Amino acid sequence: MIIINNMAKREKWQSRIGLILATAGNAVGLGNILRFPSKAALYGGGAFMLPYFIAFLLMGLPLMIIEWVIGRYAGKHGHGSMTGILGLFFNHSSWARILGSIGVAIPVLICMYYIYIESWTLGFAFMSLFKQMPVPIKTANPQEAVKPYVEFFRTYTNPSMIAYIFLLITIAINWFILQKGVAKGIEITAKIGMPAIIIFGILLGIISLSARDWAGLEGLKFIYNLNFSGIKDPTVWIEASGQIFFTLSLGMGAIAVYASYVKPKEDVVKAGFWTAGINEFVEVIIGASIAIPAAFAMFSAVAIPELAKEGTFRLGFMTMPAVLMNLPLGWIASFIWFLLLFLAALTSSLALIQPIIALFEDEMKWEHTKAVSVSMILVITGAHFSAFMPNFIDELDFWAGCVMLLIFGLIEIIVFIWIFGINNFYNELIQNTSIKLPRAFVYVIAFISPVFLSFILYFWVIKDF
Ligand code: PHE
Repeated sequence: MIIINNMAKREKWQSRIGLILATAGNAVGLGNILRFPSKAALYGGGAFMLPYFIAFLLMGLPLMIIEWVIGRYAGKHGHGSMTGILGLFFNHSSWARILGSIGVAIPVLICMYYIYIESWTLGFAFMSLFKQMPVPIKTANPQEAVKPYVEFFRTYTNPSMIAYIFLLITIAINWFILQKGVAKGIEITAKIGMPAIIIFGILLGIISLSARDWAGLEGLKFIYNLNFSGIKDPTVWIEASGQIFFTLSLGMGAIAVYASYVKPKEDVVKAGFWTAGINEFVEVIIGASIAIPAAFAMFSAVAIPELAKEGTFRLGFMTMPAVLMNLPLGWIASFIWFLLLFLAALTSSLALIQPIIALFEDEMKWEHTKAVSVSMILVITGAHFSAFMPNFIDELDFWAGCVMLLIFGLIEIIVFIWIFGINNFYNELIQNTSIKLPRAFVYVIAFISPVFLSFILYFWVIKDF
């Protein structure tokens, strides 16, 4: 194994709290507040949650720890990207490079649509603030109430000139922050963004749950009434597992790259638990309390799966403004909703672009400005496909944002546990940590997680093909 010691050259997070907030910001995103409620609604609420929790325990948490441990290990030797990590173990053989590049390709692919949706949230925040959202119709019929917002969304994303301008602004904001670097850019953004996300989220949760005389509480029951009806459907399993990977930013090295900027003595196990904990809090407590309860307050329960079938955006960009704009001072509530989405998306899109920047810097030895510029040009090109190609977003979300994550997660376990070695991994895991995980934890990662993952992929493939 080669040890390249160019540690001094790599940036480091400035503080412990900054590191935790940055990685929490990485994980907490549109996935928590939009994608999760839509998937839960589509696959039957409580029926979706059982596979979801199992996937979290058997794959999400173990993989989170793997990425943190491996990230610190690689960072110690002056590498950040997946290619760097693999190259370290395999003496830079070409197949290691190919695998590593696939790892870096996934976040870039996701970012191509993610950043476009992020730009809608910024656009809609401005529209709310400057009172450009449609005027709510006073009607008892929820379908009628949503109509103006459906029209508005369709015209906006057609795409309109204004949508295009906000896309450019969003790209410029990302570019600016990434150019500032890990500590001065990403860390500072997360220190401001994460507390705001949590405060706005709790506020909106209360607003949604209490809407129409607490009718929103039905929405929570729908999600938390755990049941077995989805357990035989491989699609529910693959979507629930895909959601776990997506929301925790796993299966693409995005966490490992952030972890590679820690100081060599950092307690990464603790940091891993914090990241997963904050993410799940924002997803299953806050995320569950906003969009679905709001929809329940507005529509009959029967209509929810129907609404969900119309896609992720229905809940966030049409139903939510219809609910919020009907409140007194609704434009402020609507502004806060879209600002919340924007902040959550921003701290995640930075994390989607950083892996390729790290690849350019660590592997190709490019200087920072060049690495950032080339990465942004790739993202801009992809964002144009999202804006102008119908169905591009949905297809890419399924393939890059679900299936590829699961496959790459499996590859990560094989490489980082099996090839690196269970003992090597365990020795690295127990260094500098106050949480002494037993060896059995590594056995879960080594045996149960990959078997579970393979089963899900296998049953999903034979069912489909
Ligand atoms: N976890 C983010 C979300 O929930 C998405 C993401 C995936 C961000 C991978 C970074 C890396 O929205």
